[in-house]
Amino acid sequence: MLKKSLKKFIAMSLVVGSMVTFAACGSQSTSTSGSGDKSQSASMERIKKNGKLVLGTSADYPPYEFHKSINGKDEIVGFDIEVAKEIAKDLGVKLEVKDMKFDGLLAALDQGNVDIVVAGMTPTPEREKNVDFSNVYYQAVQTIVVRASDKDKIKSTDDLKGKKIGVQKGAIQEQIAQKQVSGAQPVALGKISDLMLALKSNRVDAVIVELPVATSNVNANKDLVISDIKLQTEEAGSAAAFKKGSSDLVKEVNKTLDRLKAEKSVDKFVTDANNLVE
Ligand code: ARG
Repeated sequence: MLKKSLKKFIAMSLVVGSMVTFAACGSQSTSTSGSGDKSQSASMERIKKNGKLVLGTSADYPPYEFHKSINGKDEIVGFDIEVAKEIAKDLGVKLEVKDMKFDGLLAALDQGNVDIVVAGMTPTPEREKNVDFSNVYYQAVQTIVVRASDKDKIKSTDDLKGKKIGVQKGAIQEQIAQKQVSGAQPVALGKISDLMLALKSNRVDAVIVELPVATSNVNANKDLVISDIKLQTEEAGSAAAFKKGSSDLVKEVNKTLDRLKAEKSVDKFVTDANNLVE
């Protein structure tokens, strides 16, 4: 009997305890937003308060973003990173880079684990329902990478019937494979490097990927080539993504993107990034 009531007491105090913590958090956040500028979005407020812009990216995508050992230290480099550095500079804050799988990026934005996503991400109407996008800062086309030994056998989407097509999980290439290569079997993997390995080891027969990424992978793998197949949905622009309701941040970031466009900096960043790819 006594035991039972003790248990009950402990359980009760745990509930009360967590309620108190909860309330404390709640009042803290209200007071911060109360003292801050009301017109500011939560994302902008957090960035300014922390003095840093937390970037979410998927560094499997050379020359957009990739790992490189510089002076013995593993660094994330690429033209998306240069764009993000400019954005942070204009916001007057530091840049922190978080590397994750491409299909986890939008959830990270939503949960507030990152403030911005720059990852060669294409602003699709479907994604626009859940996140805000900046203007497009780079435009690429879709290509299909195949084994060099298959280049003459795989020349049209018809030749891919019954074949396995590798695509990145959560990327627009998943839909492109489904819509445009009827009769093919899409295989979705988390990382581009895994897709290229799967292609080399015959686990898939083709990989759909954007041209700059195809070029850098083909240059690094002599047994892979870009096929002659032309896809219809060829264009894929890249834009920065933000948590929904960050229009003030989007506006600021677009100013930076406009500046980079006027200065023709993105093209330079792309050339520099291509030079860094091994
Ligand atoms: N542009 C494509 C998309 O938005 C692919 C981007 C993949 N990016 C990456 N860092 N792996 O779905």
